[in-house]
Amino acid sequence: MKQFAFPYQRVLQSQLTAEAQALLVAAGEAVEKAYAPYSKFKVGAALLLTDGQILRGANHENAAYPAGICAERAVLANYDMHGQAKVKAIAIAYKPSNASAHPPLAPCGICRQSILETQLNQGSPIAVYMGAPDGEVIMVENSSYLLPFHFSSDYL
Ligand code: THU
Repeated sequence: MKQFAFPYQRVLQSQLTAEAQALLVAAGEAVEKAYAPYSKFKVGAALLLTDGQILRGANHENAAYPAGICAERAVLANYDMHGQAKVKAIAIAYKPSNASAHPPLAPCGICRQSILETQLNQGSPIAVYMGAPDGEVIMVENSSYLLPFHFSSDYL
């Protein structure tokens, strides 16, 4: 039997580097811009680029439900408008819609696929910071850890 194993950190936001904390703060600011009248689940995402820029995106829903887009893919579409810098990291934050548990937000499968394709295109790893409302964070240094078996353009 073969096995995958990958390293991750589970820490408080206050224990991270100033750069990572600033990125999570930016993701938290983006949460306030979410358009989520249907799910009421507001998500924000922020990218840190190698030139120091921070880009923001939020989920954007629609009455025709499948037309909605997640925060992570919203910020990746925004990134395509911004020059040559690479993506160093993505941070994700959310505002809960109910009183259930609020663990760090693991991105959905489609967003994992999109983050990973950006990583493969640029040829350098994208760290993923998954935030929770109480300041807890799960961090992986390489987005491929979240999608060990993945489809890519190599198949096409
Ligand atoms: N959502 C995100 O924006 N990112 C995720 O990783 C998970 C889910 C959004 C999509 C939808 O607008 C709402 O959260 C509820 O699924």
